[in-house]
Amino acid sequence: MNVTVKEQMYEGKAKQVFATSDPEIVMVHYKDDATAGDGEKKGTIRDKGIVNNKLSNALMQKLEKEGIPTHYVEELNDRDTLVKKVSIVPLEVIIRNVAAGHFSLRMGVAEGTTFKTPILEFSYKDDSLHDPFINHYYALALELATQEEIDTITAYSFKINEILKKIMLDANIKLVDFKLEFGRLSDGTIILADEISPDTCRFWDATTGAHLDKDLFRRNMGGEADAYQEVMKRLLG
Ligand code: TMP
Ligand code: ASP
Repeated sequence: MNVTVKEQMYEGKAKQVFATSDPEIVMVHYKDDATAGDGEKKGTIRDKGIVNNKLSNALMQKLEKEGIPTHYVEELNDRDTLVKKVSIVPLEVIIRNVAAGHFSLRMGVAEGTTFKTPILEFSYKDDSLHDPFINHYYALALELATQEEIDTITAYSFKINEILKKIMLDANIKLVDFKLEFGRLSDGTIILADEISPDTCRFWDATTGAHLDKDLFRRNMGGEADAYQEVMKRLLG
């Protein structure tokens, strides 16, 4: 795609977003910066930006083939990708297959317990409020999304879970849980946005149970840079 990259529009904790000469397209730049516990812990994970860029792009292309519309347009290089410009729906959608993290803390269910059916959760995407847990009535009451949008987001999220579970298991990785964000195109169409990466998913080795994701960083366990490389190697060869 022939576009010129222009000024930075936004800088988040792990990515920067740049305008381009096409008003419907932005460029995402993936950094190695990592935060945990609401930005309380700050650090970097070597070459994380490369892994997250390449992995997220590959997974979004596979999802597109299965009928999920995504923001992916074109990978420019190791860290930069053109994506469709959206306004982000301020909901973090979490899908859980196995108990872990905040679910285990909240519910007193041991990490590693597999659920009978997958769980979908919403959080309100607001760092200053620490992304509080909400349900879909909050989203409707506060006009974060319409009922129709919530139905679309819910259907896409469960379908994405089925597709990703299979892709990961083929790489001997258990998909424990993950977080998705959706956006609206200028015509209102809902598409998958943000990223799918070891920052936003819990990946456990299907044989050993070893963590292959950002929990290594969040929990000060070490080895996160190597784990990210391992996930990339297993999925992209
Ligand atoms: P949780 O157990 O901490 O709620 O996390 C559930 C999933 O969501 C896990 O795969 C990590 C991901 N996640 C994010 O991508 N961003 C966040 O800010 C948090 C808290 C979790
Ligand atoms: N949202 C968290 C933070 O910024 C990151 C995470 O736990 O993935 O601290």
